[in-house]
Amino acid sequence: MLAQDIHAYLHSKSRIMHIYLTPFIFLYAAFLFLLANTYDGPLYDSSAYTECKAYPEDPLYKGGILQEVITVDAAAQPTIMLHNLSIAFYTFSAWIMIEDEGDYNGKSTSISVASASLQPFTEEQWRLNQQAIINKERKRFVTVHVSDMHGERLVGASITVQQISKDFPFGSAIASTILGNLPYQNWFLKRFNAAVFENELKWYATEPKQGKTNYTLADKMLEFVRANQITTRGHNIFWEAPNYTPSWVTKLDGFKLQQAVNSRITSLMSRFREEFIHWDVSNEMLHYNFYEQRLGPNATLGFFKIAHRADPLATLFMNEFNVVETCNDVSSTVDDYIQRLRGLQRGGVTMDGIGLEAHFTVPNPPLIRGILDKLGTLGLPIWLTEVDISHNIDKPTQAVYLEQVLREGFSHPTVKGLMLWTALHPEGCYQMCLTNTDFRNLPAGDMVDKLLEEWQTKNIQGVTDQLGSFSFHGFLGEYNIVVKYQNRITNLSFSLTGGHETRFLNIQL
Ligand SMILES: *[C@@H]1O[C@H](CO)[C@@H](O)[C@H](O)[C@H]1NC(C)=O
Ligand SMILES: *[C@@H]1O[C@H](CO)[C@@H](O)[C@H](O)[C@H]1NC(C)=O
Ligand SMILES: *[C@@H]1O[C@H](CO)[C@@H](O)[C@H](O)[C@H]1NC(C)=O
Ligand SMILES: *[C@@H]1O[C@H](CO)[C@@H](O)[C@H](O)[C@H]1NC(C)=O
Repeated sequence: MLAQDIHAYLHSKSRIMHIYLTPFIFLYAAFLFLLANTYDGPLYDSSAYTECKAYPEDPLYKGGILQEVITVDAAAQPTIMLHNLSIAFYTFSAWIMIEDEGDYNGKSTSISVASASLQPFTEEQWRLNQQAIINKERKRFVTVHVSDMHGERLVGASITVQQISKDFPFGSAIASTILGNLPYQNWFLKRFNAAVFENELKWYATEPKQGKTNYTLADKMLEFVRANQITTRGHNIFWEAPNYTPSWVTKLDGFKLQQAVNSRITSLMSRFREEFIHWDVSNEMLHYNFYEQRLGPNATLGFFKIAHRADPLATLFMNEFNVVETCNDVSSTVDDYIQRLRGLQRGGVTMDGIGLEAHFTVPNPPLIRGILDKLGTLGLPIWLTEVDISHNIDKPTQAVYLEQVLREGFSHPTVKGLMLWTALHPEGCYQMCLTNTDFRNLPAGDMVDKLLEEWQTKNIQGVTDQLGSFSFHGFLGEYNIVVKYQNRITNLSFSLTGGHETRFLNIQL
């Protein structure tokens, strides 16, 4: 597979257009530490920037395999043929500047390319790099010291460690089909700590006729997630696609539309204030612009402002498809996404997050990673919000692709949650189901179960050493620890929160 990790930057200023493709070297010390003894392959370089740079920096990976080939006279022969590229993954980066001094007729356009780099990774090298990040970002070292009341170390105390919940939100969409369906509820609760309602909060669902709001299903689903302490995203307030806008709304204009819009936000958000961790405020605004066409160019900015006032503690998200899925959709490049976010920020929106729907056909791991690197420079939480693999892909292959996507998400430091788009209906799922309707796993379900297990600390048993201490490396989350020494026993729970230092626990018996 030839995969390219292109970081493209498009910026236009006083008739000079620059496109810059990535650069710069930056090695993580902890990376080196975690990989040092076992791995001598290339370390993935996640450095990226989103500003135009007037001059190129050094190429990533010292140019990778291009080190040897870029000795040709590029001006005379600007084509380089690379043969026999057979290694699994390639990341490509370069600095490119396009200058057009004239009238954009192409006559006086000059293109400069510098610091090009093409770095191959085998599948195993890619996986080891991911694992190093998981070890650093999703896990933490813990040292338990056991002593008696006088401070004497207790050597040989037995320790049992059990992870009882996970910090990282990993969940799935649910539909109203889960209400009263105990097998579905049990299946869901055994696996996931996060949810999103597939359709039940959408405007067409809550107000099918103007003025006749009906939140019955959303209320009942909220009871279910609340009763089970499931973190839930609010999806969505508005959807810019006219096809998914209630038909009565599409007939409104001007003041009447503005009134309907205001009453939608107020009604929805006063009812569900502080219930959802996120709100997708204006869904898919890179592809569609129903409201801006009708209400003017600042319509969405207004939605974000009103939503923020209505529920100040919820993180407001943009949510978009074909950003991370492909580089073939000109409506939703990573640069468009960044520009739109910056526009909202300039317009005064303060809290926001990046939703990437992640409806894949064939995923391209280096592309996913490169786009996450670049979005990550904004310092906002990124969630993969609707992960699935197209129904056009056969089920065993869906599982293979799903694993690639979930591993990219879980091993990218800026990704703060993974949501599958796998709400189950008697007639199936949107694109991909995890189980059949009897809750027997399909291949994608087996894959999810495998990853859920892999990303959880297994039960640990041990005894304290000569220093009265016992150490382990665990995934972030809640733990229960039982310590026994002779006839004494103690049982405590603690929260392993993120951090790069070892967490110390002092236990007295
Ligand atoms: C590509 O690999 C094949 C088979 O290993 C070899 O015969 C061929 O010469 C290689 N081509 C180039 C341009 O290196
Ligand atoms: C509201 O929605 C529920 C669930 O779909 C439905 O049973 C009920 O009849 C609706 N109420 C009204 C007044 O339409
Ligand atoms: C849109 O908002 C921006 C920033 O708040 C403001 O400068 C501009 O005048 C607004 N445009 C319209 C058409 O309201
Ligand atoms: C420790 O406490 C937890 C929660 O209170 C309980 O579920 C568990 O059974 C206890 N374990 C032991 C060995 O007492």
